[in-house]
Amino acid sequence: MTVISVLPGDGVGQEVVPEALRVLDDLGLGLEFDVLDHVNAGAYLATGTALSDDDVDRIRRSDAALFGAIGDPRVTSPDYARGVLLRLRFELDLYVNHRPVSLPAERLSPLKDAKRGAIDCVVVRENSEGLYAGIGGALRQATSHEVALDVEVNTHSGVSRILDYAFGIARSEVCMVDKSNAVPNGGRLWQRCWADARRRHPAMVTRHLYVDAAAMRLVSDPAGFDVIVTNNSYGDILSDLAAELGGGIGIATSVNLNPSTGFGLYEPVHGSAPDLAGRGVANPVAAILCAALMLGDLGHTAEAEAVRAAVARTVEAGRCTPDLGGSLGTAQAGAAIRAELG
Ligand code: IPM
Ligand code: MN
Repeated sequence: MTVISVLPGDGVGQEVVPEALRVLDDLGLGLEFDVLDHVNAGAYLATGTALSDDDVDRIRRSDAALFGAIGDPRVTSPDYARGVLLRLRFELDLYVNHRPVSLPAERLSPLKDAKRGAIDCVVVRENSEGLYAGIGGALRQATSHEVALDVEVNTHSGVSRILDYAFGIARSEVCMVDKSNAVPNGGRLWQRCWADARRRHPAMVTRHLYVDAAAMRLVSDPAGFDVIVTNNSYGDILSDLAAELGGGIGIATSVNLNPSTGFGLYEPVHGSAPDLAGRGVANPVAAILCAALMLGDLGHTAEAEAVRAAVARTVEAGRCTPDLGGSLGTAQAGAAIRAELG
């Protein structure tokens, strides 16, 4: 029995995850869903904890996790995201954040010259260290002499393993992105690990860009990228940029993955979108494509492909939400995809 932990979370997560579950149900694969509905901002506000040790154990025992989004306008403390999403990334050692982007139709490109915009790449974001490590402190807090430190952690093993993952999935090129012209220690470590990784994978074409130049190149020549590998923060930012170039965050998927255990937490890139939440208008495609990504990783390759094809045909036909040029709501768009799936 394959058990999927389901964490709809906040905002539009509550609306799009059920659509993904309906698609999975229709496929009749006998997946069991363990829904952790209580992991949300309401619980955090009421009790100070949204994700308990027991929850983490339940998720760890499952075969994969389907995540919606976390984030709520009432919560401003970073402790909330750190206690849920980042906790899962760290404790389950989901050290890869794999964020594929491919533009499904030229008309969805935000670029004036859409022909140039045929992006088809993967942002491989280091997901277990960097600025997200939570190491640092503050002095003289809440005074005009305040000093705040967040230490960027870069380890030889952490950087080497994410580089190797990037080489492992690349089809034509690996582009490593850092800021080693300005950030001395982490920069040197990434450069050394990069040189070693290239020696381990001598047949692969490689490129190096500083992160500012990478942002520019993503806009000027998006089709020129295959795999971009970078640290946690640069990956967070560049993956949103790439997603927008690939038709918008309404369709962008990601998986937080431990390649050794194979465990993945599948997460739409769009977040909780408080401005759309509760109105039934959010695009369910990212959540549904996350489910497809999960099916592929669980070995249900044909079903994953069928879901992707059904999504592509409904979007092509304009049976989709307004962000993709249609006029359907969340439930209608989900139903259209399921009807197409047959
Ligand atoms: C993401 C999100 C998270 C991140 C937030 C919610 C902490 O933006 O998954 O990209 O920064 O990693
Ligand atoms: Mn992000």
